[in-house]
Amino acid sequence: MLFPLGGPVPENDIIGRDSFIDTLQMRLAEGHSVMLAGPRRIGKTSLAQEVLRRLKKQGLYVASVDFFRLSSKRNIAESIINSCLENRTGIRRTLDAVWDQAKLLAGSAKIAVKMKDLEFNIGLPRKEMDDETLMEYAFSLPELLAEKDKKRMVVLFDEFQDAGQITGSDIYKKMRSFFQLQRNVSYLFLGSKEGMMQSLFGGKKQAFYRFATVLPIPQIRESDWELYISRKFRGKNIETSSEAVKEIISLAGGHPQDTMLICSEAYYTLLEVEETKLSLDIVRIAFDRAMATLMPVFDEMLDELSKKHLVREVLHRLAIGDIIYKEKNHPYDVKRAIDQLTLTAVIEKEGRGKYRFVEPMLKEYIVRNYQDG
Ligand SMILES: Nc1ncnc2c1ncn2[C@@H]1O[C@H](COP(=O)(O)OP(=O)(O)OP(=O)(O)O)[C@@H](O)[C@H]1O
Ligand SMILES: [Mg+2]
Repeated sequence: MLFPLGGPVPENDIIGRDSFIDTLQMRLAEGHSVMLAGPRRIGKTSLAQEVLRRLKKQGLYVASVDFFRLSSKRNIAESIINSCLENRTGIRRTLDAVWDQAKLLAGSAKIAVKMKDLEFNIGLPRKEMDDETLMEYAFSLPELLAEKDKKRMVVLFDEFQDAGQITGSDIYKKMRSFFQLQRNVSYLFLGSKEGMMQSLFGGKKQAFYRFATVLPIPQIRESDWELYISRKFRGKNIETSSEAVKEIISLAGGHPQDTMLICSEAYYTLLEVEETKLSLDIVRIAFDRAMATLMPVFDEMLDELSKKHLVREVLHRLAIGDIIYKEKNHPYDVKRAIDQLTLTAVIEKEGRGKYRFVEPMLKEYIVRNYQDG
């Protein structure tokens, strides 16, 4: 893919995050835990994974667990253990090797040696352990490994708000009780459900209250996008006018994945029409095509939002720049609709009574559909 889409982007395609990545790397290496919450598809995972790559190069131990992919306590425990042990063994699924004694191949013997000292400490993780025990084992492993190997360790928990959905919210209390005693490990928590993340880390009664520094994810600068987009096209011998590149950025309205999507559609359009110049016309076509691919996504979002009273109407008003509070609605209901839209990260508050669409293409989609009737 010329323009990476739909998941964490490779190192060389991460745009405009250098100084933020530096900040994160520094804090985590120093032992501070950090929490980042932000809407879908703005590049949380991409930047976190780059931070881990750099920390690893720096000589730290790193582990990462994505709660979105997991479905049970046992899953969680195994995923943490595997990711921690990879630092020692160099393989992804160390547990399989440890557990599969029957298939003790040459490779597994080597692994057994690498795990030997753990055996004397907390013992090896055993298949017969019940879920709770295995989970406690997992939660204590990062610090144990770090201490034994005289390393600092950084653990990434992606889509952290899902942990509670999987096992119940007691898991947070348990985690905290282990993590807060660890001197050599810091944690990077990511989440796309901002409301849940904020309350988990900011609510006085919540398990992770004040456990991590909450940092806002900065916007990617337009100039960074401009450089990247023209460089990429140039690499394919496509000439770009600065006007056309700026138009892409402006149409996507600062949304990282949508910017990539329009670029990608522009590229395929150029291939189809066999042209080598990115013009405004091509950008227009690319935008419409991008919109078409987003249509099912947007429709589903809107259907979901329509389930709550007034939410869809209020969103329409915001999109077309209409007054939000109307006489026919109770102000309290309008307020609740706004809260719902903020909570689901469809809009963000910009100032008193001012809101912006997190994904400006959604705004455009609503405007277009509204006109059609
Ligand atoms: N810094 C960036 N540079 C280049 N592309 C980016 C950047 N950030 C996001 N993108 C685009 O957004 C897409 C999604 O990125 P990523 O998966 O890192 O986001 P996310 O916030 O973790 O999303 P999700 O909510 O799905 O977990 C990428 O595939 C890429 O197209
Ligand atoms: Mg992600």
